[in-house]
Amino acid sequence: MLWKTVLLLALADQVLALENGLLRTPPMGWLAWERFRCNIDCDADPKNCISEQLFMEMADRLAEDGWRDLGYTYLNIDDCWIGGRDANGYLVPDPKRFPNGIAFLADYAHSLGLQLGIYEDLGNFTCMGYPGTTLDKVLQDAQTFAKWKVDMLKLDGCFSTPEEQAKGYPMMAAALNATGRPIAFSCSWPAYEGGLPPKVNYSLLADICNLWRNYDDIQDSWSSVLSILDWFADNQDVLQPVAGPGHWNDPDMLLIGNFGLSFEQARAQMALWTVLAAPLFMSTDLRTISAQSVDILQNPLMIKINQDPLGIQGRRILKDKSSIEVFLRPLARDAYAVVFFSRRADMPYRFRSSLAQLGFSGSGVYEAQDVYTGGIISGLQAEANFTVIINPSGVVMWYLYPTGEPEGPQL
Ligand SMILES: *[C@@H]1O[C@H](CO)[C@@H](O)[C@H](O)[C@H]1NC(C)=O
Ligand SMILES: *[C@@H]1O[C@H](CO)[C@@H](O)[C@H](O)[C@H]1NC(C)=O
Ligand SMILES: *[C@@H]1O[C@H](CO)[C@@H](O)[C@H](O)[C@H]1NC(C)=O
Ligand SMILES: *[C@@H]1O[C@H](CO)[C@@H](O)[C@H](O)[C@H]1NC(C)=O
Repeated sequence: MLWKTVLLLALADQVLALENGLLRTPPMGWLAWERFRCNIDCDADPKNCISEQLFMEMADRLAEDGWRDLGYTYLNIDDCWIGGRDANGYLVPDPKRFPNGIAFLADYAHSLGLQLGIYEDLGNFTCMGYPGTTLDKVLQDAQTFAKWKVDMLKLDGCFSTPEEQAKGYPMMAAALNATGRPIAFSCSWPAYEGGLPPKVNYSLLADICNLWRNYDDIQDSWSSVLSILDWFADNQDVLQPVAGPGHWNDPDMLLIGNFGLSFEQARAQMALWTVLAAPLFMSTDLRTISAQSVDILQNPLMIKINQDPLGIQGRRILKDKSSIEVFLRPLARDAYAVVFFSRRADMPYRFRSSLAQLGFSGSGVYEAQDVYTGGIISGLQAEANFTVIINPSGVVMWYLYPTGEPEGPQL
């Protein structure tokens, strides 16, 4: 029954959606905020301050270290780039930190096969206090971003009222469209309204935004990952149906490569974000990232699953009393992604289950490829018992596909 509901919602969904043709699969790339914040002290910390040089160095890494070719193509600026407005009200970047201007950075990104994202805030100021886009500046700022050849805009919501946001986000969507330049639009609006109906109208969001931040900013800790995951899973009946090609829920950046997550936790965040059809925005120092983190982020099967063309967001389908949770995402060609997630803190747990317990029926035979180890488990039939061994705060992730006639939960 669940699956019929998913189908109906997926079909109903095709009439809604922003028609700029962008982000048919979740965006992938690099976003400055979580790792580099508002570090503007280029005298004391020239290698890590928010500056043209930082973005050019990350662009080089994206292009040269395999990221771009796997799909990580967005190079996204966040807060703290703005210098002010000129005499005619046009936004200008900080002249010391971005001496060649944003159009130059966009050209640089494009020359490497990347796309440039920028940040503004609908309101009097950005969250860090730089000049915001007030309602009377929406049109002008959209034109500025298009003139600079920017490819994505993240529009935050500090220092504005709910009424201004209700006017401003649709207004910016129209203003971006009117520029004639395809610019992906990331809206922080729902996060400022608690992320849930009735205050948030997700049909409207899907009409005007390509992705939206629903909930709190991520911080570099496992507790932050868990609080975001819990909120998304607890509210999945609202959130799961509203995601799809061109319009995505955004649980915020990947922490992998930073300081707050263990190896198992880093693997868990990657798997869980992938099964949630989340944008994959890294926010880490690509100049110094470890080989182990690269392996997690560059796993080709993981990326293939995240970028599945059906664009169906997965759901938590089981919350076992053993503190094991199972997430399932339907994929093209009758395949599924399955994530077995352990919230335990003792030792690797032997979780016994069967496809029948995960909602499969019929006589179909499946094979599973372990997304991290590559191991193949074959001969999986609905009633056959299997055991997966899941490390504390870790995951086992399967790419599950039919061998022979597909007979899984039908869409
Ligand atoms: C924005 O600035 C205007 C003009 O100074 C002020 O009246 C308004 O209260 C401010 N809005 C917010 C949400 O801070
Ligand atoms: C603007 O909107 C129209 C109608 O939804 C769409 O066909 C067109 O591709 C959009 N253009 C851009 C640049 O987003
Ligand atoms: C939500 O937005 C849609 C599309 O703009 C609109 O048709 C609908 O009436 C809105 N729903 C509510 C409850 O306001
Ligand atoms: C699977 O395990 C259950 C008990 O956990 C048992 O009743 C059932 O017979 C087993 N099925 C098979 C096919 O071995």
